[in-house]
Amino acid sequence: MPVAHPESIGIIGAGKLGRTLASLSLAAGFSVLLHGSGPRARTARIIETFAPGAVAATLDEVVAADIVVLAIGLSDAEELDSALFHGVVVDPMNYWEEADGPRPDFDDAAMPTSVLVKRWLPGASVVKAFNHVAYRDLAGGSRRAGDPHRWGIAVVADDTRSAAIVAAWVDALGFDPVVIEDLASTYALQPGQALFGATLSSAELRRQLG
Ligand SMILES: NC(=O)c1ccc[n+]([C@@H]2O[C@H](COP(=O)([O-])OP(=O)(O)OC[C@H]3O[C@@H](n4cnc5c(N)ncnc54)[C@H](OP(=O)(O)O)[C@@H]3O)[C@@H](O)[C@H]2O)c1
Repeated sequence: MPVAHPESIGIIGAGKLGRTLASLSLAAGFSVLLHGSGPRARTARIIETFAPGAVAATLDEVVAADIVVLAIGLSDAEELDSALFHGVVVDPMNYWEEADGPRPDFDDAAMPTSVLVKRWLPGASVVKAFNHVAYRDLAGGSRRAGDPHRWGIAVVADDTRSAAIVAAWVDALGFDPVVIEDLASTYALQPGQALFGATLSSAELRRQLG
C-alpha cells in the first residue's frame, strides 16, 4: 500500500539523472537508496562525489522505498524483474537511439513509452515525472513554492493516489507538480515533441499539455 507522505526514495541507476535526483532528494530531507550498476563499492564512490548521505543499496533494498525511480535507459528497464515492483514507480525515461538502438516501438504516438513501462511492471503503479527536463536544469532549478520562476514538472499517472505521492516529492524538490491523469497522453512529453526539454511555469506547462 503506497504511503501518503513519502520519506524514502529508491533510485535505480547512478548516472546523470539518478545522481541529480538523489542529491535534490537529500537536500529536501528524504532518505535516499541508490542502486547503480556493478559492485556496491562503485556506487558508494559515486555517492561520495555526487550525493553524500545516500546509501548504496541492492535492488531488493531499493524497491522497498516509498518511491522507486527508474533512472536507467528504457531498454534496461525492459529487462527488470517485474516481480520485484509493487509500489509507486517513477518513470523519467526517454527513448534515446544512441543508447537503446533502433526501436520504432519506443516512438509511437499511440503507445507512449510510459504505457509500455506500465505493461512491463504490471504490479507497480507507474507515474511519469522528470523526463522532460535535462538533468543540468534540474540540478540548478529548485525554487521555493510561490517563486514566480518556479518550473512545472509533469506528473502523469492513471492512479490519483500514486500521482499525489509523487507530486508531494516533486514539490519538496522545488518544482510545481502539474498532475495529469492519463499515462496514454504522455507522447507530448517525449523526445522530439515541443515540451521535451522545456523549462516552463506550471501554468504554461498545463496550458500546453491541454
Ligand atoms: N540526462 C538527462 O538530462 C535526463 C533527463 C530526463 C530523463 N532522462 C532519462 O533518464 C534515464 C537515465 O538517463 P541518464 O542520463 O542518467 O543516463 P546515464 O548517465 O547513462 O545513467 C544510467 C545509469 O543506469 C545504469 N544502469 C543501467 N541498467 C541498470 C540496472 N539494471 N541497475 C542499475 N543501474 C543500471 C547505467 O550503468 P551502466 O552504464 O554500467 O550500464 C548508468 O550508470 C534515461 O532513460 C534518460 O532518457 C535523462
